[in-house]
Amino acid sequence: MSGKILVTDDDEAIRTVVGEALRRAGYAVETADSAASQAEALSRRRPDVLITDVVLPDADGLDLVPSLIAAYPGLPVIVISAQNTLSTAVRATEKGAFEYLPKPFDLDELCNAVAEAMRQKGGPVGLAQADDDGGIPLVGRSPAMQEVYRTIARVVPNDLGVLILGESGTGKELVARAVHELGPRKAGPFIAVNMAAIPRELIEAELFGHERGAFTGAAARVAGRFEQAARGTLFLDEIGDMPMEAQTRLLRVLQSGEFTTVGGNRPIKANVRIVAATNKHLPELVEAGSFREDLYYRLNVIPIDLPPLRKRGEDIVLLARHFLAKAVEEGLPAKQLDAGASRRLVAHDWPGNVRELENLMRRLAVLTRDSTISEELIDAQLRQSPDVSVPAIRTYADDSLSLAVQQHLADYFASFGGALPPDGLYHRVLETIERPLLKAAMEAARGNQIRAARLLGVNRNTLRKKLQDLDINPGHGRPSSA
Ligand SMILES: Nc1ncnc2c1ncn2[C@@H]1O[C@H](COP(=O)(O)OP(=O)(O)OP(=O)(O)O)[C@@H](O)[C@H]1O
Ligand SMILES: [Mg+2]
Repeated sequence: MSGKILVTDDDEAIRTVVGEALRRAGYAVETADSAASQAEALSRRRPDVLITDVVLPDADGLDLVPSLIAAYPGLPVIVISAQNTLSTAVRATEKGAFEYLPKPFDLDELCNAVAEAMRQKGGPVGLAQADDDGGIPLVGRSPAMQEVYRTIARVVPNDLGVLILGESGTGKELVARAVHELGPRKAGPFIAVNMAAIPRELIEAELFGHERGAFTGAAARVAGRFEQAARGTLFLDEIGDMPMEAQTRLLRVLQSGEFTTVGGNRPIKANVRIVAATNKHLPELVEAGSFREDLYYRLNVIPIDLPPLRKRGEDIVLLARHFLAKAVEEGLPAKQLDAGASRRLVAHDWPGNVRELENLMRRLAVLTRDSTISEELIDAQLRQSPDVSVPAIRTYADDSLSLAVQQHLADYFASFGGALPPDGLYHRVLETIERPLLKAAMEAARGNQIRAARLLGVNRNTLRKKLQDLDINPGHGRPSSA
């Protein structure tokens, strides 16, 4: 694997020896002899890895590390030093150096450290690096995402209202989870409620719970989402779809800090952080009278604007690699992107945003025979399936479904180059077929489960269980959700 390495050391002998060793290992090497020339080379060459000495003529190389990482998130810094004391090592770790090598070091050791740094570079960067548990895989280091990270960092320690805005598939839910996971409410639950998925007459009971006998069918007391999210975060997704009455109720709860269950009269203290999200333009809804202005201001204390993927060009390849790596974790074969493929990805305008990219990468991980993904392959996939919401089954014009499946499986087996695919193939394949089948049936039945069950020839409970297992919205196909 090639890469650009910047070596900063005021000792010319070190620069020469280290530079030679790295070039022999296939890297492009640039050198600097001071903090100033290092800064210049960093911004001009954007190296993949920085190797720096501690004692530089114009600065302490170690002290610079935090600001360098802040300026170039994800940049692995390997510190080499003749001051090989414990405190230098400790300081190197504290400052966020990727590796610390006391001089004199073994050149092979240095090359190994560089190779390791290059390997990790393709992985999650950004918040994941700030988060020691690696819990939040928010990938991206574009200026647009840096702005998002800064805002997240600002809201994490407090309970201010956060409103996450962005097109579909830009990562709103992931950001909501990050706000929760990185803050003091981490030990509490993260509860997500999708306002668009709950029938309007059930929203109150869903949010605030109900007492036994509160309405027909309320056989027992049920805690609502506010209660379930106590000491944690309540994520109100698709808030733009919240019906008016529910908005009024929510506003009152936010103002008073307490709520009562449906059919109950004892006020319960609300102890949740509210994070809301929408892909709608709320000021327009306010203007049109379908969203309460006072609620809008209450939710929108701190807005987090997630840019569409087409505005994060430099993140696209990083994200693509991240999703390929994820596919490997799920047992799919490892794939790489060649240069043309990366260019093609960057050129695409990604109407489905990160989700579209994720689906494409998963599809390629399954379908591609070769271990390298080419520009042509990506081009074919992008042409073939403008609709990213439908999981891939290649259909061969004029062929029967059975032939398409047969061809797909042949491709799939071939992609393992003689080895066997991971166990559990039967269920994976059936699930791939079941999902579009159920969705198509639900759409044909306009979201009516009884009708869809009859159409499919399965029992209604079976259908409901399948929808649940496959995580298909039970309202799928209903005219309003179309
Ligand atoms: N920066 C990112 N790094 C890694 N994965 C991401 C990133 N952004 C989004 N994803 C992934 O892309 C997919 C879509 O993200 P998410 O569900 O958060 O989008 P959304 O904005 O809530 O979409 P929608 O409006 O359709 O609900 C998820 O699988 C998520 O994990
Ligand atoms: Mg979402």
